[in-house]
Amino acid sequence: MRERWYIPMMKSTESAGERRRAPSAFDQRLAARREELEGLYLGLYQDGGAAFEQFLEMLRGAWKARKRPLRDMDKRREADPDWYRRRDLLGMMLYVDAFAGTLNGVVEKLPYLRECGVNYLHLMPLLESPKGRGDGGYAVSSFRTVQPELGTMEDLEALADGCRRGGVKLCLDFVMNHTSEEHEWAKRARAGEKAYQDRYFFYESREIPDQFEETVPQVFPTTAPGNFTELPDGKIVMTTFYPYQWDLNYANPAVFQDMTENLLFLANRGVDVIRLDAIPYIWKQLGTACRNLPQVHALTRMLRIACEVVCPGALLLGEVVMEPVKVAPYFGTTQRPECHLLYNVTTMATTWHTLATGDTALLRRQTEAMCGLPKDFVFLNYLRCHDDIGWGLDYPWLCQHFGVDEVGHKRYLNDWFTGKWQGSRSRGELYNDDPRLGDARLCGTTASLCGVESAETENDPFWMERAISLDLTLHAWMLSQSGIPVIYSGDEVGQLNDYTYHDDPDRQADSRYLHRGRFQWDLAALRGDPETRQGKLFQGLRRLLSLRAKEPCFDACAEVRAEDSGNSHVLAISRRQDGRELLCLYNFAPEFETAWPHRMGGYTELMYGTRYEALDQVELYPYGFAWLLKDTEK
Ligand code: GLC
Repeated sequence: MRERWYIPMMKSTESAGERRRAPSAFDQRLAARREELEGLYLGLYQDGGAAFEQFLEMLRGAWKARKRPLRDMDKRREADPDWYRRRDLLGMMLYVDAFAGTLNGVVEKLPYLRECGVNYLHLMPLLESPKGRGDGGYAVSSFRTVQPELGTMEDLEALADGCRRGGVKLCLDFVMNHTSEEHEWAKRARAGEKAYQDRYFFYESREIPDQFEETVPQVFPTTAPGNFTELPDGKIVMTTFYPYQWDLNYANPAVFQDMTENLLFLANRGVDVIRLDAIPYIWKQLGTACRNLPQVHALTRMLRIACEVVCPGALLLGEVVMEPVKVAPYFGTTQRPECHLLYNVTTMATTWHTLATGDTALLRRQTEAMCGLPKDFVFLNYLRCHDDIGWGLDYPWLCQHFGVDEVGHKRYLNDWFTGKWQGSRSRGELYNDDPRLGDARLCGTTASLCGVESAETENDPFWMERAISLDLTLHAWMLSQSGIPVIYSGDEVGQLNDYTYHDDPDRQADSRYLHRGRFQWDLAALRGDPETRQGKLFQGLRRLLSLRAKEPCFDACAEVRAEDSGNSHVLAISRRQDGRELLCLYNFAPEFETAWPHRMGGYTELMYGTRYEALDQVELYPYGFAWLLKDTEK
C-alpha cells in the first residue's frame, strides 16, 4: 500500500525535477556559444580560468535581472532575426536637454516624434557626467546614474517602457573607451589604490607615454593635444580624447567584466540599441596606432556573445569613424558577427565632398563599394550628427584619378563650407584645425551648410529656394541608401547654426556646439505652413518618407547599382525589387542639369508625378533630384 502511495508522489517529484532541470534560455544560449567565448576570453586573459567563471556568473546575474517584457521581446526578436533589416525604421538623434529639457519632457514630445515618423530614437549621452568637463556627456562619472538635471534611472526606464509600447526603438550611448576623471575608479586610482590604477594606463614617468606618442595619432590636436595628461602629483595617465577622459585598460579582465556588466545594465533598462562609442580605440599596444587592433575585434565579439546570451533582443551599433576599409570588419563574419549596425560614415563625408566639388565620381565609386557588401550588413545613413565632419575620403583614388592632393583638398573643402570660396553659400566653422597636417574638420547644421542660413540673413529668396532644394535633395539621397536613415534633430525643420556657444566658457573651445543648439520649438511650429522654409522642408521630408515607406524598391534587399547618368554633376542610382525599378537622380550642381539615362519604357517621377514616355533625357532643377519609377508590366 505504501508503495502505491509513493509511486504517484515519486512521479510528480520527478516531473517537477525534470522541469527544474530543463535548461533555461540562458543556459541554452550559453551552451551554443560557450566554447567560442572561452577561447576568446582566454586568448586575451591568459590564466583567466577563474575570472572566466566569474564572468559567466555575472552574465547569469544580468539575465536573471532581465524583466519579463524584455525577455518576451527577446524571444520575438530571436524568432525574427531580420526585424531591424526592413525599411520600416526611421531614426532621429537628439540631446534630451536641447530638445525637451528632461527625460519626462521627451515623453511629452513623443507625439511630435510620431508626427515626424520617427520610430528609432537615439538619445545622446545622458548618464552622470561633470559639467564643463563632460565632453557633451562622453565623460561618464557613473554608469548607473542619469545626469540629475535630466531625470532619474526610473524616468529612463519609464521612457523606455513607453517607447516599447509605442513601437519606438531606443538607442543610448555606451561610452566604453574611457571614464570621466570623476568616476569612482579614477578617484581611487588618484588616491593611490593600485587595483584602480591598473584599470587605467597609469605611469610614474614619461618613459612609456613618450614611446606611445611616437606611434599614436592625436584625436583632438588643437583642443586636447597629445594622448597623455600629467596629474598634479606628477603621475601620467592616458587620455586619448580630452584630459578628463581617462582611457580604460581592457587588458585588465576586471575592466572588461565591470564594463560588460554596465552595458547589460543599460540593456536591462529597456535600451534596444547600444552605441559602442569609440570602439576602435579600446585596446592599446605600444608600437601601434592603438586603433582597430585585433584584440578590439575579440572584445567586440565577446560583447556580442554576451548580448546574445543575456539580451538577444538588443543590438550593438559600432561607432567606427575610420577610413573605409577599417569600417566593415566591425560587422565581423557570418559565423562570428560583431556589431549589428554601423554608421555609413564614408558615404556621409563623400556626399559633402560631392557638394563642394560638384563632381559625383567619388560618390559613385563609394556607392559601388557599398553595393558590393553583403546585404545583411545594416548601415545607419545620415547627413549630420552631433560630431564634426571629418574628411575621411578615398584620397589614393582621388589622387590617382584627379591628381588631388590631400592637404590642399581638405583646405578647399573647409574653405567651401565656411563660405570663403566664391559662390559658396555655406556657413560652417572649422573644428580642430591642425595647421601641421592641414587636417581641420567641419561643423554646422545641414541647413546652414546647404546655404539656408546665408539666404535668410541676406534675405535672398532666389538662393533660399536653391538651398531648400539642396537640403531636400540630400535627404532624398540619404533615404535612397539601403539601411536605417537617421535624421539629426532640427534638420527636419531646417534648424540653423547656434552661435551662442561662443559666449559659454564651458563650450566655446568646442565648435561642435555650433550644431548642438536648443531645439527651436517656435520655429518648428511653422512646419505646417507650406509658405515658410520650415514648412517646405518638413512637408517635403514627410512626402519623401511616405514614398519610401510605400515603394518596395527601397527595401534593404533590393538590388542597388550606381549608374552612368551621362553628366558628372548628376549621381544616378537604380534600385530593383520584385520586378520593379526605381531610378534616382541627384543633381549636385547649382544650375539646371540634364541627365541621359537612355532608358526605354514609361517612368513616373514619384515626388511631383511628372510622366516620361521614355527616359532619354531628364532635366533636373538646380540641386534637384528625381525618383523615377518604371511602369510595371500589367
Ligand atoms: C565619440 C563621440 C564624440 C566624443 C568621443 C569621445 O567619437 O561621438 O562626440 O567626443 O567619442 O568620447
